[in-house]
This record gives sequence, structure tokens and C-alpha cells, in this order.
Amino acid sequence: PLPEAFRKPLTVPPVLRPTSTTGGTDTYDITQRRSTAEIIDGVRTPIWGYDGILPGPTLVTRRGRRTVVRHRNELPVPTVVHLHGGHNAPRHDGYPTDQILPTSGAHHGPHHGDGDLSRGTRSYTYDTDQRAATLWYHDHRMDFTGPSVWRGLAGLHLITDDEERALPFPDGDRDLPLVIMDRSFDQDGGLRYPSVDADLTATPGVTSPYEAGVLGDVILVNGTAWPYREVDAVRHRLRLLNASNARRYRLRLDPAPDGVDEPLVQVASDGGLLARPLTHPYVDLASAERQEVVVDFSRYRVGQRVRLVNDFGEGPTRQVMEFRIARRAKDESHVPSELSVIEPLDAGRAVRERDMVFRSEAIGDRHGWTINGEPFSVDHIHAAPRLGDTEIWNLYADFHHPIHLHLVHFQVLGRGTKKPGRFDHGWKDTLDLRPTEQARIITRFDGHRGKYVFHCHNLEHEDMMMMGNFEVR
Ligand code: C2O
Ligand code: CU
Repeated sequence: PLPEAFRKPLTVPPVLRPTSTTGGTDTYDITQRRSTAEIIDGVRTPIWGYDGILPGPTLVTRRGRRTVVRHRNELPVPTVVHLHGGHNAPRHDGYPTDQILPTSGAHHGPHHGDGDLSRGTRSYTYDTDQRAATLWYHDHRMDFTGPSVWRGLAGLHLITDDEERALPFPDGDRDLPLVIMDRSFDQDGGLRYPSVDADLTATPGVTSPYEAGVLGDVILVNGTAWPYREVDAVRHRLRLLNASNARRYRLRLDPAPDGVDEPLVQVASDGGLLARPLTHPYVDLASAERQEVVVDFSRYRVGQRVRLVNDFGEGPTRQVMEFRIARRAKDESHVPSELSVIEPLDAGRAVRERDMVFRSEAIGDRHGWTINGEPFSVDHIHAAPRLGDTEIWNLYADFHHPIHLHLVHFQVLGRGTKKPGRFDHGWKDTLDLRPTEQARIITRFDGHRGKYVFHCHNLEHEDMMMMGNFEVR
């Protein structure tokens, strides 16, 4: 039986305090360990968590402050930490074979040649020379990202800057991160995932009915199944992150406020502020995408219950969470008509175009997912742009594939012969590519030389080889 919805209040992941702050550097410590979480009312579910919690603690960094995160791995398997949306040096980006081996126990080496291995702990240094945005960190181990994230290895990392701080947006507890994931549970409350190898050490992959991606039948927000939140009848900023392995969402407020067709005012996407706010009746989110919206709860009556629903879901997965309008309150926030300046990348300045085809293919006797016919290999470089080059990539898909590039943010030039989609504005790092669709993106490979991955962020596709390398030279 599924847990009852809207019984537990929403919690917000705690903001992690630095262990030390010296000059321009903040140092944080995180321990990756086994723990339990009360995802469902009255049930302790075993998880793997950053500091033992799901989602992990939230890091908040002001632009320009160097951030060092020391991760200690007390889990029984190797791990890798990637800051999704971060503009970081390759050594600190969490390349899938650059693993933190467990503090104790056997060494289960990567299947794709040893990367840069550390034992027990590893420090990731982030220069944070990038604009304010809602980033997230998660596991990225070769072949086993899907089950590791499913068990709980994901958290938020917010970057702030002067431009964003100066905006009169809702803040404090009116600035609400919502990390949305779907999960399935056993009878005894354990997380259920169809791994071929339950120890997550030897054989990668999921059993054959799940190769298209693992979907759960329970929706979690910030680690609680279908929570509710009491809110003042004022504007709130909702930072929506889809941290699900494979599920896509179309989120909408139900009911919409009387007489307002487009109550979701989008102010930011993956790479931070949009140039101008956009209004939407709903918001689409593929795996790993972020959209930030401001909603005005003053348009509802006190006592009213407003659901966040998922029009792409069926049955229980149509529900996400419930807002309970508690009381009237003073609200000095608003959304200005100009938010930021976004320099449009000029297609005329692109030095080359590349085609990247994401599709399903047989790899030996197994089903796999490839890019340009190649399953992932640490040695195969799909693209080698020079530092500073602007390139256009044409992305083609046979199925839904949320495509993510490390290191860079990009702009969407179009989808097929059409203009960019409703949710393609601003700086993106993940693009929801739909079946048989072509999308055209433009980016500049700046800041760091070295080898990075790009991949499908359906984590089961990623683990089944839908990943490639680009090397900035
Ligand atoms: Cu969200 Cu390669 O990762
Ligand atoms: Cu995919």
C-alpha cells in the first residue's frame, strides 16, 4: 500500500556551516554514510546520505568565495561527487572514474581503467566564479550513478551574487527549495531499485524491464513523501529541482488562482536569472533541470489548500505536494520586469558545428544507449574544442533524453525548424530532448582546459553508456 499523502510537513534541508573560513576560502566537511530517513510517516528507511540525510545539506556560496568541500566516504562502495552546473577545473569536477574509495573495505576498481583515486577522503575545490544559480551536487560514479543517487546521494548548492541579492525577491523562509524525486518502496519501507547487482560493486545496470529508466510510484519533496507546507498568503520563490533518475514532470498549481491563467512567474533556470520574467500555466522539468518560479499565494483565501500537481504523472504520481494558505502577511517582495543581462551567443561567431546523436543500440548482447554510435569509453573523445571556442551542437534523439554538458552553460537556438521552447530560455546546462527531436545549442568552452563528460541525465541511460567526453584544449 502507498503511504498517505499530505500527512507530513515539508522540511527544508539544513544549510551547512563551514568548518573554517579563512581569507577568501570557506571549507566544508561532508561525510557520506549509511543512515535512515523518515520519508514516510512512522517508517525508517535505510538510505545513503551526505551527512546521513536526504537530500544532503545545502551549501550556500557567495560568488567569488573559493569553496573547498572535503568529502569523507564511509559508504561500502566508491563514490564520486559532481557539482552539477559548476564551472570547475577537471580534477574537481567529479569525472566518473576519479573515485573516493571507501575508508575501509575492499577496493572495487572502476571498470573503465583507474582514474584519479583517493582513499577515504577527497577535497573538491570550487572557485565559484559564476553567476548566482541553483546548483546541485550528486554522486557520479562510473556505471552506478543511478542506484547511488536513488539511495540518497544528492543535495543543493546555491550560489548567490550581488545582482541576485539586490532583487526584491521573496527571501528567508519564502525562498523555498523543492527537490523533487520519485522512489519506490519495499513492504518493509526500504528503497526498491532493480539493480542487477544489489551490492553495487561488480555488475552495472538494471534488470531488463527498467532499461528505459527507473520510475517510482511515490513522489518525495525534500525527502518527504507528498508533504504539505503551511505558507503565508504572500509571494514565494520556489526553486524547483528535478532530482529524479528518469521521471519528467509538468508542474502546475491546482486550483490556479481565480482569473490567473499563468500563475507561475519564472525568474531563473539552470544557469540562474533570466533576462526578464516569463509567465507560465505550468512548468516542465526533465531530470536535473531547475526552474525557479515566483508564485503569489495572496491570490488564494486563507484556509485554502493548493496542490502542486504533475500532469505527466498517473495515479499517485500526479500529486506532488500541498500548500496550506495559513494567514495574511505583509509582503514587500516583487518581481521586476528586468532581472539580468544575458549576452546572446552569436551563431555567426561559432567556429564549428557538431552533430550528436543520442540513441538506443545493442552493445554486444546487451541493450545500451550510445552517442554517435559509441558507448562511453574514457579514451574516446567526441569533441575537442579549443579554449575559448564557440560551437554549435545539433542534438538528435530517438527517445526522451535530458542532455547535460559539464563545465559550460549553453543557450538554445532552436528545436528543429522551430524556435526555442517555452522553458529553453536563459542559460541552460541540461536540455529536455524529446523523441525524434533535434535541438540546436550554442556554447563557449571557457575557463578550464581538460576532459569533461556530457551525457544523458536519465541516470539509467547514463549508467548504460550514454555518455561521452569533450576535451577543451
Ligand atoms: Cu548532474 Cu554529469 O551530472
Ligand atoms: Cu537518455
